[in-house]
Amino acid sequence: LVKPLREELKKFQGLVDGALRSYFPPAVPYAHRVRKAMEYSLFAGGKRIRPILCLMACKAVGGRMIKALPAACALEYIHTYSLIHDDLPALDNDDTRRGLLSCHKKFGEATAILAGDALLTEAFSLLSHREVMKKVPAGTRIQVIQEIAGAAGIQGMVAGQEADLEAEKKKVSLAYLRYIHNHKTGALIKASLVCGGLIGEGTTGEISSLRRFGEKIGLAFQIKDDLLNVEGQARVMGKKTGTDEKKAKATFPGMVGMEQSKHLGQELLGEAKKALKIFGKDAGPLVEIGAYILSRDK
Ligand code: IPE
Ligand code: IPE
Ligand code: MG
Ligand code: MG
Repeated sequence: LVKPLREELKKFQGLVDGALRSYFPPAVPYAHRVRKAMEYSLFAGGKRIRPILCLMACKAVGGRMIKALPAACALEYIHTYSLIHDDLPALDNDDTRRGLLSCHKKFGEATAILAGDALLTEAFSLLSHREVMKKVPAGTRIQVIQEIAGAAGIQGMVAGQEADLEAEKKKVSLAYLRYIHNHKTGALIKASLVCGGLIGEGTTGEISSLRRFGEKIGLAFQIKDDLLNVEGQARVMGKKTGTDEKKAKATFPGMVGMEQSKHLGQELLGEAKKALKIFGKDAGPLVEIGAYILSRDK
């Protein structure tokens, strides 16, 4: 990672972490554990890629980044919920995440399920909050809510997660694999960019550019995730599986090999950059984070 980008990412991560802290729901009587579990996973060292993409997209269309902070946090809530549930024994059965115990290993399955439920719900509470979202016109707020709900629900991440589980049981085509990646991972990444653009009051042309960029880097992101999982980076990635005999997942490295997967990643990055032409030199930060997605080591 080049130094300026690393420092830039740190700055953005700090901004996002501060906002996440400030919006974090206050304590409730008799339900301390579930709130602790939400907090544990939310502040376990995530890279904050989705919120950062949202803020950068807002800036790229000429908006003030701070307007996009609540939506950025809501996206991280949804991402965190998806990881908590993804690690559960009924799904991927992973004991660790980011080098720490996964949520259910630390707090028990029941609390982890509830923590995921709460994070997903709180995301929409934030997005529709009159005070928190007061800088975003009501019409835009509804567009943002619709975009994120679509990306997280049955048209998006949930469908991808189900297809991913199905693919453990049968041999699947490359088209099926693309579907899994685009939905389980790509959809929320794309929505992060689109919402940043909407909040920044981008033009229709700018929003569709962000959408195309998001499609490309969303797929590239999951290909890189799978590459990292097989490149013996488990220690850096901080993941450990709950069972010895883990079911085979459908992945690009598994289906087309490491070299082809890396090649495809680069190809997608090239297409992603082209999608940003409309932004001229304002595309700089988005292009850099696109490159980071493929060069990262965790
Ligand atoms: C990991 O996402 C899971 C996928 C959707 C591929 P990230 O790599 O963004 O996870 P954290 O939050 O930074 O750990
Ligand atoms: C995670 O996909 C996607 C979601 C949580 C929606 P994976 O299961 O491939 O990601 P990791 O490897 O557990 O982070
Ligand atoms: Mg999974
Ligand atoms: Mg998983």
